[in-house]
Amino acid sequence: MDLPLIGLGTFKARGESVKLAVRTALQQGIRHIDTASIYKNEEDIAAALKEQGVSRQDVFITSKVSPYEQGTGQATRACQQILQRLQTDYVDLMLVHWPGVARTDAASPHNAEMRWQTWQVLEQLQQQGKARAIGVSNYSASHLQELLTRAAVKPAVNQFELHPRRQEVALRQACAAAGVAVVAYASLGCGDLLQQPVVRQVAARTGKTEAQVLLRWALQQGCAVIPKSVHPQYIQQYSPQQLLSWQLADADVAALSALEDGHKYCWDASNIL
Ligand SMILES: NC(=O)c1ccc[n+]([C@@H]2O[C@H](COP(=O)([O-])OP(=O)(O)OC[C@H]3O[C@@H](n4cnc5c(N)ncnc54)[C@H](OP(=O)(O)O)[C@@H]3O)[C@@H](O)[C@H]2O)c1
Repeated sequence: MDLPLIGLGTFKARGESVKLAVRTALQQGIRHIDTASIYKNEEDIAAALKEQGVSRQDVFITSKVSPYEQGTGQATRACQQILQRLQTDYVDLMLVHWPGVARTDAASPHNAEMRWQTWQVLEQLQQQGKARAIGVSNYSASHLQELLTRAAVKPAVNQFELHPRRQEVALRQACAAAGVAVVAYASLGCGDLLQQPVVRQVAARTGKTEAQVLLRWALQQGCAVIPKSVHPQYIQQYSPQQLLSWQLADADVAALSALEDGHKYCWDASNIL
């Protein structure tokens, strides 16, 4: 799998705003678009890709089977619908969005059975050429371990929340040991980390924006990133040219890494059995 290091996040972006974001991202050389069944924007993204006239092979599309679509029957239908909405024969990466089933107790054994069924659907999807690669999202080290012991195909990716306040060192080590690539989400702390004083100091020192500093920090941890914005002036800051042409000094990486306090901006799946 040729996973681009930089992608466009699209959570909570729909209609004309996500179309503009996708068009801007493509113009900036960003070739990875991260969506999900639950974001309800796959049709808008397909429309924007078509309008922009980009060849299918020149864009990397990730989507995700939602916690409402777990299990053999539902996940099979969900994958078909995702491809239809995206107007494509294949996605580059299909993920199990969440290790649990919607509206199900975290302690229920139903979660493990259903995510295993969903994984088998993704394995078939890949065999059929409808997903170039398959992976997971929000999996803890134990979810990952459980999957690795049973899966015929190893997950290519684990996508999870990762930023200086929540570095997930042990989980990243587990991913690295298993050869699973990490895609970091909420790298900007959902916007909140842009105001963080240390982040602002590093931005001032380097002459970069706060967002660029946070994304560089994640890239220098060996992760791919998928920052989300619907504003062209922000998306322009996330082009490969802007992000891959410089490095944070070790001292700045260390200053940012010292912000670790375990804080999570998004949901926590670690208690799901
Ligand atoms: N797998 C999962 O369960 C999961 C969970 C969460 C997210 N994700 C994926 O990861 C992507 C990124 O995560 P995220 O959207 O939660 O958070 P994020 O990328 O950390 O932050 C996005 C927020 O920051 C704002 N923002 C972006 N750039 C900015 C800038 N330069 N200055 C000021 N504000 C800025 C955006 O607002 P504007 O749009 O208004 O600019 C948005 O509110 C998502 O969009 C989604 O694709 C996946």
